[in-house]
Amino acid sequence: DTPLRGLAEAKGKVMGTAVTGSKLTGTYGEIAGREFNWLTPGNAMKWASVEPSRGSHNWGEADRIVNFAESHGQQVRGHTLLWHQQNPDWLTSGSWTRDQLSAIVQDHIATEVGRYKGRLAAWDVVNEPFNEDGTHRPTLFHDTLGQDYIAQALTWARAADPSAKLYINDYNVEGVNAKSTALYNLVKSLKERGVPIDGVGLQAHLIVGQVPSTLQQNIQRFADLGIDVAITELDIRMQLPSTQAKLTQQAADYQAVMNACVAVARCTGVTVWGFTDSDSWIPDTFPGQGAATPYDENYQPKPAYHAIAEALGGT
Ligand code: G3I
Repeated sequence: DTPLRGLAEAKGKVMGTAVTGSKLTGTYGEIAGREFNWLTPGNAMKWASVEPSRGSHNWGEADRIVNFAESHGQQVRGHTLLWHQQNPDWLTSGSWTRDQLSAIVQDHIATEVGRYKGRLAAWDVVNEPFNEDGTHRPTLFHDTLGQDYIAQALTWARAADPSAKLYINDYNVEGVNAKSTALYNLVKSLKERGVPIDGVGLQAHLIVGQVPSTLQQNIQRFADLGIDVAITELDIRMQLPSTQAKLTQQAADYQAVMNACVAVARCTGVTVWGFTDSDSWIPDTFPGQGAATPYDENYQPKPAYHAIAEALGGT
């Protein structure tokens, strides 16, 4: 059987996974290298990971992932420069003037994007900027710098690495709704102002049986703005224990997401948020739920794996 990455490449699509750098050996490393043509560090490039104390950087796990990707002919999606979670304590506990924070953010972006200049295909520059109702999320960045922190971050990222595609990434923006419409309007206005924005990431942390019916239509409307769309963090969780019926439904759901992306030329592809149930954030965050990824905890492919292959033209 052709690995997923070969099927994806034949269709000109990304098939990616989030990875944990310390696990990239043994069976985990074999599958990550064999099946996927893109990697996203699940945590290693977040601000708290790379600059735990001010001015003192820790690039170990991020470097390890980028090196692994390069030696396996894979691209890397940088994740993420500005987010309201997983920030260092020195940043969140400080009290900053607008000018101070602006300089800190600019330095962070220049340093991190600059370190990997020319080596990363894309960056999630801003992660999760919106509330569910489409208003801007009140974060340290938003509240101190103002709404235009997004445009500034994009501009600084472009300056630090002109070849990386720059994205805004969010969750619950897969279907047409108030939040995705706010993202749509933001991208439209950024484009009109000439701010560098190349794509949107739809995270797609979904629930079995609940793929939004407007997914393809939503991908298409973003594509029609002249930007790329990526499914960046796909997983489809269920109430445990998993049953054959739930795994079958989950496979159909994975296939529906793949199909929607394959159907739109500017949908670059799909990244799963962990390829194995042994490396998934779901059980920690949603007690009693899990089994959300294409491989089980023992690295056995589930029906979802075969459904992904089929959507990419495999058998
Ligand atoms: O590294 C420490 C370890 O030393 C410690 O022993 C252990 C005990 O709690 O915690 C470990 O850190 C955890 C880290 O993942 C690495 O495993 C954190 O507690 C845990 O909070 C953190 O969760 C991450 C989560 O973001 C934080 O919100 C998940 O792994 C990561 O998959 C998840 O990813 C996010 C995306 O970045 C953005 N979109 C949503 C997605 C899911 O929350």
